[in-house]
Amino acid sequence: TGLVTFDTGYGNTASCASAITYIDGDAGILRYRGYPIDQLAESSSFLETSYLLIYGELPSKEQLESFTNRISRHTLLHEDLKRFFDGFPRDAHPMPVLSSAVSALSTFYQDSLDPFDEDAVELSTVRLLAKVPTIAAYAYKKSIGQPFLYPDNSLGLVENFLRMTFGFPAEPYEVDPDFVRALDVLLILHADHEQNCSTSTVRMVGSSQANLFASISAGINALFGPLHGGANQAVLEMLQRIRDVEEGNVDAFVERVKKKEKGARLMGFGHRVYKNYDPRARIVKQSADDILKKLGVSDQLLDIAKALEERALADDYFVERKLYPNVDFYTGVIYRAMGFPTKMFTVLFALGRLPGWIAHWREMINDPSTKIGRPRQLYVGATERPYVPMANR
Ligand code: CMC
Repeated sequence: TGLVTFDTGYGNTASCASAITYIDGDAGILRYRGYPIDQLAESSSFLETSYLLIYGELPSKEQLESFTNRISRHTLLHEDLKRFFDGFPRDAHPMPVLSSAVSALSTFYQDSLDPFDEDAVELSTVRLLAKVPTIAAYAYKKSIGQPFLYPDNSLGLVENFLRMTFGFPAEPYEVDPDFVRALDVLLILHADHEQNCSTSTVRMVGSSQANLFASISAGINALFGPLHGGANQAVLEMLQRIRDVEEGNVDAFVERVKKKEKGARLMGFGHRVYKNYDPRARIVKQSADDILKKLGVSDQLLDIAKALEERALADDYFVERKLYPNVDFYTGVIYRAMGFPTKMFTVLFALGRLPGWIAHWREMINDPSTKIGRPRQLYVGATERPYVPMANR
């Protein structure tokens, strides 16, 4: 019916109308609900930004308090869900553990199944924002064989998450407020990015009227891939390889990338939409400097990252293709300084992207023009041929 266009990777297809996030990739501009990302990173908090993305406006003081209180009342995991973690191998990657546990929320909260029940969607929204940090922390605790900590709801969301991740049950946990703020800012920077792979996945799954938990679980799996959220882990592994195997030789690595040798891609560089410096990367780079200075440590990996960036930005290959550092290029160095193992990096991205996914799912389900996502294809297989009996093959 009508003209079907062929557009692999949907580089030229708008799948929906959205009022959530604006990107001008040529100018390097990113705004959530009209507010510039640098102003939000400077002045907002992750929960306030989550509210903004989901409900469309910055909250009043009372609205933010009530939102925060509601979330803090839902941070516990059902004891049976906690047992879920025992079923996974100890060395399991925390991303599939996270997506599985989020998928399982549909079994614990069967009131979530009707996507058009507004109260239920509201409750699922709060449950996700509250429980995903707990699930993420437990996925980590499980991987290192340490006991789970119950959430302490007197703490803010980020501090609570850090305590459940790095704390011990019987010991007080003290965390540097600068760390809490640094992580809060990173979560704000990741909170939405319009129709990226995972968000499009959330919308696609939701377009079949699957509930919020099922759709978000699918989004987490989409984020896992190294070309998307998995890039932050891949960047750190690349930097480590350059340090340990390639003796810090940035030049040789860049030359291999340019020759497109197998496995040689400059991870954390390039973007489908940004053809200019990613505005998030600029903020993250500054934050990496600040955090390391604050800790009084120097990290050779940060030096390698800076040398790589400088080398790449002066090279025609990268200039011609408009390849600049993206948000993932410097985040790993910060997460590492905070004590997170490499495997947890993409989980931190998921924590940040969660409000964006929720906002898009809600926008999609409430949009009367939404249709089930169902792309067409260009068939390139065999033309009709008769069935061949087994004896004749
Ligand atoms: N290193 C080397 N060459 C690259 C890179 C890179 N990171 N990215 C793109 N190119 C080249 C690519 O080989 C192609 O060259 P040519 O025209 O000679 O074939 C040209 O640049 C255009 O690239 P593309 O693959 O058509 O671009 P895309 O829009 O399909 O891909 C991307 C975008 C982000 C997947 C890609 O740039 C990439 O793989 N980057 C590395 C992974 C990464 O950092 N991902 C995180 C993205 S930002 C946050 C997120 O979504 O999680």
